[in-house]
Amino acid sequence: MSFPVLRSSEVRVSPNPLAPAWLDEPTDANALDPTVWSATSYRSADGELVLGGVAASELVASYGTPLYVLDEDDVRVRALEAVRSFDREAARVGTRATVYYAAKAFLSAEVARWVAEAGMAVDICTGGEFAVARAAGVDPARMGFHGNNKSLAEIDRTVEAGIGTVVLDNADEAGRVAAAAERHGRVQRVRLRVNSGVHASTHEYLATAREDQKFGVPLSETPDVVRSIRQHASLEFVGLHSHIGSQIFGSDGFAEAARRLLAVHADLLASGPVPELNLGGGFGIAYTSADDARPLDELAVALVDIVATECARLEIDVPLLAVEPGRVVVGPAGTTLYEVGTIKDVTVSTDGGGSAVRRYVSVDGGMSDNARTALYAADYSVRLAGRASSTPPALVRVAGKHCESGDLVVLADYLPGDVAPGDLLAVPATGAYCHSLASNYNHVGRPPVVAVRDGRARVIVRGESEADLLARDAGLD
Ligand SMILES: Cc1ncc(COP(=O)(O)O)c(C=O)c1O
Repeated sequence: MSFPVLRSSEVRVSPNPLAPAWLDEPTDANALDPTVWSATSYRSADGELVLGGVAASELVASYGTPLYVLDEDDVRVRALEAVRSFDREAARVGTRATVYYAAKAFLSAEVARWVAEAGMAVDICTGGEFAVARAAGVDPARMGFHGNNKSLAEIDRTVEAGIGTVVLDNADEAGRVAAAAERHGRVQRVRLRVNSGVHASTHEYLATAREDQKFGVPLSETPDVVRSIRQHASLEFVGLHSHIGSQIFGSDGFAEAARRLLAVHADLLASGPVPELNLGGGFGIAYTSADDARPLDELAVALVDIVATECARLEIDVPLLAVEPGRVVVGPAGTTLYEVGTIKDVTVSTDGGGSAVRRYVSVDGGMSDNARTALYAADYSVRLAGRASSTPPALVRVAGKHCESGDLVVLADYLPGDVAPGDLLAVPATGAYCHSLASNYNHVGRPPVVAVRDGRARVIVRGESEADLLARDAGLD
């Protein structure tokens, strides 16, 4: 497909009718909103973006682009805050909390160590995630194993290693885990994932507790499944688990899920112990200035209040609590750096018969390093990383280099109007579900991940080279 191209001088940069309603034109398109950018980011006196004390140009000179940059202190502080908030709130109502890090958000040995050192347990959902967390030194007893289709080999290996809890997705799995536990002479602690039917207010494909979806057991079937679990001498049923979706801002969805789960939990107490309740993850973060993400601390207060109030109403003890945040721990700490290759101004028809110009700024990565925009139409922000500019802002769309028209990184934001090929761009809040969802589409190697802290940078996940890609091709042996 070819697009009409306008020269920059012909472009009406603002106001642009193609801007989404939530996006305000910034007075300063260099500003770094602290709710969106990682904790240590700032602009140096000469206008350059600095992350963890390291200038963007320095990072790019050493490691190239695209580059994932993870602010180590930010991850560590967020992990500590998650543990402390839930510990404090649980203690307030006379119970204890286990805070799992949802490894699917981002997993590497270093990150597994950071979160474990902060006191988090680790939630894994494949044998691969188990292998990385274990190799990093995380005690299997401090891990929970999720997944709607765990293989027999995965079950056997994790049970043999002494995994803390297996979250059963369905009745069939109970038999499989029981057999593995018997083989290894263990009594395996298990939770049951239930589908609370609560619709989290987020993108449809992320709302995992709808009726028509693959995860968990409907609440109505839960008593029967728990009965069958309790019949296995090699299983210890510890409680219900629910995860209602992702990128959730308020506590209403969690409140409704907790109420529904606790009603069943109370009934189950009549036929045996139910020591725990796990409310999953899904706490939202700010990807743009329009996102009003509440601090995790506030959500901890709200969630624990809801559970305590409901337990009082049902006249049952407050159970041990568990939650599984991923995104909120690692997401805001990540920034992706790209280099601009081409810039194209495209005339687009607007409602009412007019037209406007959308500026496509293409970078040297895209859906291979950040699939979320293509998958969910996720919104992101973008800023110049190598310099600041006082040129009035222009609405831009940041596109990748892949052969898909949906290969977009930032659907809409403003950059200084003089953005040019060779400029470095930074996309914040890319710490979660970017590296973990990365692909080799178009035989593009996955970028390295660099941790920054106190003015120093170090590679924590190596990038893939062309040699790595060729090495997998058995036709070249
Ligand atoms: C069962 C379960 N727990 C926790 C999470 C983590 O969610 P988030 O990273 O949004 O906190 C997920 C994400 O999909 C999940 O499926």
